[in-house]
Amino acid sequence: MPVAQPIKTLWLKASNSDDCKQAGEPFKAGQLAAVPTETVYGLAADATNPHAVAQIFSAKGRPSNHPLIVHIGSVDEIDDWATEVPTWVKPFVEQFWPGPLTLLLPRRSDVNDVVTGGLDTIGLRMPDNPTLLRLLQSERLAVAAPSANPYQKLSPTLAEQVIAGLDGRIAAVLDDGPCLVGTESTILRAEAQQAQILRFGPLDIETLQAKCPVPIKALEGHDIAVSGNKRIHYQPNARVKLLDSQTLSQLAESAEPAQGVGGLYFSDKLQALFADQGVQVSSEQHAYRQRLYSALFELDQRGLQEIWVELPPQRPGWEDIHDRLSRAAAI
Ligand code: TXA
Ligand code: MG
Repeated sequence: MPVAQPIKTLWLKASNSDDCKQAGEPFKAGQLAAVPTETVYGLAADATNPHAVAQIFSAKGRPSNHPLIVHIGSVDEIDDWATEVPTWVKPFVEQFWPGPLTLLLPRRSDVNDVVTGGLDTIGLRMPDNPTLLRLLQSERLAVAAPSANPYQKLSPTLAEQVIAGLDGRIAAVLDDGPCLVGTESTILRAEAQQAQILRFGPLDIETLQAKCPVPIKALEGHDIAVSGNKRIHYQPNARVKLLDSQTLSQLAESAEPAQGVGGLYFSDKLQALFADQGVQVSSEQHAYRQRLYSALFELDQRGLQEIWVELPPQRPGWEDIHDRLSRAAAI
């Protein structure tokens, strides 16, 4: 296959109204642009243009049978993409959209296979970023968008990280600063009598169940085509090791950290162990989630061989964080 010539990637700012207008142009021209969402930056194409959507796979280096999430600007637009929508779904989703929840529903027969990877369901979500929402709503635009990272790498939560992975392969990035949530959306398959979580995300099962009239189960270890469920995913270049607080504290007392080792930790007592090769994050759930990928990125840029991560507590609401950390550490 011929190697695509690099193109100039425009760096547009969400704080500039001319830039925001310009951010719509790549979609009209069948090109790719990275857009901010509340979870992570997305690598977007007009979801109704199969040629544009196909380019997402080559820019990311992602297998072409992996389905994409379509981002829409209103609950009504569910019907543009899905059919046989259970009656409970719209009142339910109105309580969480815009927000970090992706619904899997039976697809309409006119949805192109390039978007769904040939599956009979479609993933839909209304993202909670005001600039992106305005862009989607102003022209009833729908964009297909995976996270804006090369395949299996960390998802970007800053425009700088998008550029680090995709510069020269996309027409533009719309920079709206750091993503406020920080891990990818919860994926929920919706059926008439039940629902299943296929990927853990910022909205946990208790929060969703409290507003859902049908029972929700978390499907672990399933083989439905969610690439985020591959054992190896979300990886920095350095090897990630997960260690509990006690083991790390003992190391802090007994040894100097090895060369080439950095740390992602929250306990104050580990400051000395990692010194200037450490990034300290909050032990509060929302702040931890928001910093997780950007802290791993920062550490990775130091050219470390290993990143030791202090395992956060196994508490309800932290499932997505544990999920992403275990995939980052998988070998
Ligand atoms: O928060 C998010 O969900 C971010 C932002 C950009 O919206 N997007 C994101 O997309 O994480 P991506 O492609 O990196 O991960 C979406 C996952 C993939 O593993 C894909 O296989 C799965 O969702 N997926 C999408 N449509 C699906 C479908 N119809 N059936 C099963 N899995 C699906
Ligand atoms: Mg992804």
